Amino acid sequence: MTGSDRTELSGCAEKLIRGRRAVRAFRPDAVPPDTLRAIFSLAGAAPSNSNTQPWRVEVAGGAARDRLAAALQAAHAAQRTSVDFPYDDGMYSAVQRERRAAFGSQLYGALGIGRDDHAARTAYDAESLRFYGAPHVAFLFVAGPADARLAADAGAYLQTLLLAMTAYGVDSCPQGLLSFYADTVREELGVPDGQLLVGVSFGYADAAAPVNRVTTERAALEATTTFHA
Ligand SMILES: Cc1cc2nc3c(=O)[nH]c(=O)nc-3n(C[C@H](O)[C@H](O)[C@H](O)COP(=O)(O)O)c2cc1C
Repeated sequence: MTGSDRTELSGCAEKLIRGRRAVRAFRPDAVPPDTLRAIFSLAGAAPSNSNTQPWRVEVAGGAARDRLAAALQAAHAAQRTSVDFPYDDGMYSAVQRERRAAFGSQLYGALGIGRDDHAARTAYDAESLRFYGAPHVAFLFVAGPADARLAADAGAYLQTLLLAMTAYGVDSCPQGLLSFYADTVREELGVPDGQLLVGVSFGYADAAAPVNRVTTERAALEATTTFHA
């Protein structure tokens, strides 16, 4: 690779990586099948430990997507949750809890939902299970046990997928919430095994929706990264 190729690529990477953001209101327009295939082929180029590629991806659109949304809503109403990767609020440190609270007040502020309006927040969760109106959803399973090392590989796949979508002009929202309904997703899609890590709703952003104007900051480089020499 020449020096000028590298400069061009770094410019593209800055645009691509910083240009991606989570979208939470979509137009109903479907992504063309060729674009879907290009995106998921590109995502498969993600790195993994010893090239094991311990992921399995289930992509739903059309009637399958609608059936899933209905099944998830029903599971939510019946409080029928099931997780493959246990979740514990206590895993977050004080600074992480602060970041989460700051993000939450931004998000719910954009949605016009008050801090203590638990009913509206629960209703919004139910809406999230319709994939924010996205025409497609991808479920990322770890092919194997719910092991942190396999999940790290699946995480590399997740970010590669999100960036591939951005590159093809497709907007997305990774949704950990969807992983709380692992059995429902498995049943609906007929997935025999694997551990559900995360879902990704995707399509084209509704540019007029105020929720899509939420922007997030990141911690300063020094707060997360140490250079040793
Ligand atoms: C593993 C993972 C799970 C997430 N789960 C949710 C979710 O359940 N609902 C949601 O609205 N956003 C979810 N997000 C999106 C994050 O809130 C978002 O990435 C973060 O606030 C940074 O904002 P940005 O993606 O716009 O840069 C998730 C992101 C990741 C990586």
